[in-house]
Amino acid sequence: MSEPIQEIAQLIESVSGFVIGDRSTNVLASFVRERVARGGFAGVERYIDYLRRHPESEEWRHILSKITIKESFLFRAVAQFKALENTILGEIAGRRAKRRLRVWCAGCARGEEAATLAIVLADHPIVGTWHWSVLATDVDDAALADAERGVYGPRAVARVPAETLERHFVRHDRGYELNPELRRRIEYRQLNLIAQPVDLAGEEFDLIFLRNVLIYFRPEIQRRVIESVEEVLESDGTVFLGPSESLIHLGTKLKARDLGDCFCYRLPPISGDEVVDTAITNRATRPTRAPTADPVPMPRQPSDDGDAPPSFDVRLEATIKALEEGSHRRAVAGLAALRHELPESAVIHALEGVALERLAVPEKAAHAYRAALYLAPEMDEVRFLLARVLEELGRSKAAVREYRTALTGLGPASGFMTSTMKRLGYPAHDQMIQICLEKINSD
Ligand SMILES: C[S@@+](CC[C@H](N)C(=O)[O-])C[C@H]1O[C@@H](n2cnc3c(N)ncnc32)[C@H](O)[C@@H]1O
Repeated sequence: MSEPIQEIAQLIESVSGFVIGDRSTNVLASFVRERVARGGFAGVERYIDYLRRHPESEEWRHILSKITIKESFLFRAVAQFKALENTILGEIAGRRAKRRLRVWCAGCARGEEAATLAIVLADHPIVGTWHWSVLATDVDDAALADAERGVYGPRAVARVPAETLERHFVRHDRGYELNPELRRRIEYRQLNLIAQPVDLAGEEFDLIFLRNVLIYFRPEIQRRVIESVEEVLESDGTVFLGPSESLIHLGTKLKARDLGDCFCYRLPPISGDEVVDTAITNRATRPTRAPTADPVPMPRQPSDDGDAPPSFDVRLEATIKALEEGSHRRAVAGLAALRHELPESAVIHALEGVALERLAVPEKAAHAYRAALYLAPEMDEVRFLLARVLEELGRSKAAVREYRTALTGLGPASGFMTSTMKRLGYPAHDQMIQICLEKINSD
C-alpha cells in the first residue's frame, strides 16, 4: 500500500472502524484517484488534508457509503428470527407488566433487517398487540434514505414466505413495498457505532440486533461497540449478533445463551443453566479478528495445580482421549458438560457429533454437526462428516449438497479440528476431497 493510500485507509478506519484489508488496496487507490480528479484536488495530499479538516463533509458521507458493505436481505439467518418468535418474545410477554417493546437494529443497511423485525413483532400474538417500535441505525445516510422508502427487490425478499409477502407488502413495478403501518413503527437514524459516546441519550432497548457489523472492526473497536450496546440494553434485554460473529474473545459482560439453532447474548445475572461466563470463554479462543472455527485452543498438558478443578482444556483433552479409546458415552457426557460452559464453541458441537455418530445416533449427530457449522460455516471437514451422516440417514440429495459445499472449501488445512480429526482416525483433507468428488460424480 502506498503511503498516502495507507493514510487514507487509516483515516477511514478511525472514522468508521472499517478495516481496509490489503486485498482492497487497489480498489481504494482507484477510488481515491477518482475522488481527487472529480473534486479538483491538487493531489492526494490535498485530498487527505481536506478530509482531516472536514469530518462532517459530503465527501465523508460519500466515502462511508462507498466503503461499507451493505449485504443484507429479509429473514437473513432465519434461525434467529425463529428463536425470537418462538422463545424470546414469549418470555418477554410472560414477564412484562408494561406492554411496550423497544428494538434497536444497529447497522441496518437498507432496512432489510428492520423490516424483518417489524414483521416478526407485528405477527406475534401477544407482543404484536403492544406498543412496539424499532430504531434502525446506520452510518450510511444513502442506505438509510433507501431504507426509508421501504421498497425491496426480488433478491431482498427471496426468503420471505409467500404468505407473509402477500400480507405485509404491496407489489409494484419498483419492487415490494412494506406496508405503511409497519414502516411507521420503524425510525431510521444516522448513527456511527464507533462514535464515543454512542448517541442514544437515555434510550434503552429490550432487543438489539447487531448482526454482521462487528466482523469489519478490529477487536478493540468490537469491544468498545459492545460496551456501548451493554449501556443501552435493558437489564433483561437480548442481543443478537451475526451467526459467524462471537463475543468469545472479547471478555464482555454479555453472556451467551444457547437457543438450539442459534445464540443470543444477555447481561448477567440471569437465571437458569443456559448461561456461559465469557470469562471462561476468554481463554478458550484464538485472538483473531474474525470469529474462528477453533474457539478452543490446543489443549495444554494437565498441570498439577493441587486441588484446583481440571481446567476446560484439560477436560476437553480427556473427552478426546475418551473418543480415541472408544469410550463414546464418557465422551458424550464430557462434551455435553463442556458445551454447557461454552455453547459458542463450534469444535465442541463438532466433537459431540463425532461421539454421537459413534454411538449410532446419526440424527443427533447430524444436529450437532449442523450446530457446529452454524457457528463456523468454514469448517469443511465437519461438513464432510455431516454429508456422510446424511447419506447414512438416506438423505442422499442433501448429502450430495453438503459434499459439494465441503469440496469448495477443503484444502490444505491446519487447526485444532483438523488435528483432532486426524487423531481420531478420519481421512486427511486430500482423501476427503477424493471422496467428495466420487460422491458428487456418482450422483
Ligand atoms: C453487512 S451490513 C449488515 C446488515 C444487517 N445488519 C444484516 O445483518 O443483514 C453492515 C452494515 O453496517 C454498517 N456499518 C458499518 N460501519 C458502521 C459504523 N461504524 N456505524 C454504524 N453502522 C456501520 C454498514 O453501513 C452496513 O450497512
